[in-house]
Amino acid sequence: MTQAFDISLDALRARSFADPDAAATGAPATPRHSGGTFFLETFGCQMNEHDSEKVAGLLLSRGYRQVESPDAASLILYNTCSIREKAAQKLFSRLGEYRGREGEGRTIGVLGCVAQQEGEQIFQRAPWVSLVCGSASYRKLPELLSQLEAGNQRVTGLDTDTDETFETEVTRRDNPWRAYLTIIEGCDKACAYCVVPFTRGPERSRASGSVLEEVRQLAELGYSEVQLLGQTVNSYADPSSRQMRFSELLMAVAEVPGIRRVRFTTSHPRDFTPDIVLAIESQPKICNHVHLPVQSGATRVLKAMQRTYSREGYLEKIAMIRGARRPISITTDIIVGFPGETEDDFQQTLSLAEAVRYEGMFSFKYSPRPNTPARSMNDPIPEEEKSRRLAVLQERQRQIQTDGNSSLVGMAFEVMVSGKSRRENQWSGHTSCHRVLNFTSQERALLGTYVQVSVTSVGPNSLVGEHSS
Ligand code: 5AD
Ligand code: SF4
Repeated sequence: MTQAFDISLDALRARSFADPDAAATGAPATPRHSGGTFFLETFGCQMNEHDSEKVAGLLLSRGYRQVESPDAASLILYNTCSIREKAAQKLFSRLGEYRGREGEGRTIGVLGCVAQQEGEQIFQRAPWVSLVCGSASYRKLPELLSQLEAGNQRVTGLDTDTDETFETEVTRRDNPWRAYLTIIEGCDKACAYCVVPFTRGPERSRASGSVLEEVRQLAELGYSEVQLLGQTVNSYADPSSRQMRFSELLMAVAEVPGIRRVRFTTSHPRDFTPDIVLAIESQPKICNHVHLPVQSGATRVLKAMQRTYSREGYLEKIAMIRGARRPISITTDIIVGFPGETEDDFQQTLSLAEAVRYEGMFSFKYSPRPNTPARSMNDPIPEEEKSRRLAVLQERQRQIQTDGNSSLVGMAFEVMVSGKSRRENQWSGHTSCHRVLNFTSQERALLGTYVQVSVTSVGPNSLVGEHSS
């Protein structure tokens, strides 16, 4: 639905590249390293996207220039995710495109979760790679870049035993109004299917003072929305003597002058406490949207997944959120086909989705990941059966969203405008509850502003409306 909007964030991002002509020359025009050009491709989640913003910031501050095509770059970097897809395969096929071309004065590097997982094996499979750095070692990147600039052919950053977070002064943010900010890195949970604890290392929270200082700087730069990030963002534990709770940090961020919206993702049900709901109720700048992955509706499966809560415990959290004085939209992640999931377990997932009536859902077929306990569990579910369950769940959810959105016709929402269509007077943006709202307005300059929009019609994934004030 966002494809219709040609002045989207992607277009703005593309325009921010320093020299579009560089892409046309087909060869790196500048020297190999400092003062060179870089191409950075990102696969994966929001955390990965934000890591790439930090890496781009670091490189720009060292005099590199960002280009749109790997052929125009002296430094080619792939930031890879390994949570679900066959990301390693995708990476090696990309790297394969550079086989035999290492003599052209390019440096090729692999960053992120696949780098962490595959480590030095990447050099064996693709000897033309010079840099391998996992996400838990990004704080070493400036040092690794210096080594490359000094002509070093093989450099690695693969530690996960760090208690530091990756902070940099020079993040190059891709969105001009919404800034992402990591407040907790890594994960200490041990979900049986998940690679994140292996690839991103243990939980490390950033001091509240440092978070707030960055938010103040962002507000001064004109950002009005901040999104606090973490694999389990609400497990935040302030390492400074202030010992702010997550909900207190939310309130403090919202109070920074110039900030109009505060979002946070992803929340873990176990650490989702009543004070977070109270914060959302009492401070309208904290967006009324919670992403609370359930993964399965069957307690038996949740136990096998080591999720640390039962169906009933999760539903109690939902009742607490639904009981808030301000309506809060809830979205979730669900995995179908976890080893041993029976038809009855799957029916419980469907009935949980019916009971919660989520405003949005990301659903996935279980895929075995390296090092994880689930990989060696018996009773794999055949691929066709996983696909069938996924299709059934997605169809059910589509209906729930269509019904839920229908009840919004006639209501007005504040929208942060982030897209403009090629078609006359057509705009788009998000509501506080994170719905996409496409709307008409006679105004000329709305990008980055907040406007009131009345909903006139709906679909399962977005709303349609008219600018009302
Ligand atoms: N298989 C399928 N889905 C997974 N996720 C994480 N690991 C796996 C896996 N091995 C999903 C979970 C998580 C989301 C980010 O990705 O639902 O919440
Ligand atoms: Fe993975 Fe579980 Fe940690 Fe989420 S909470 S990142 S699913 S281990």
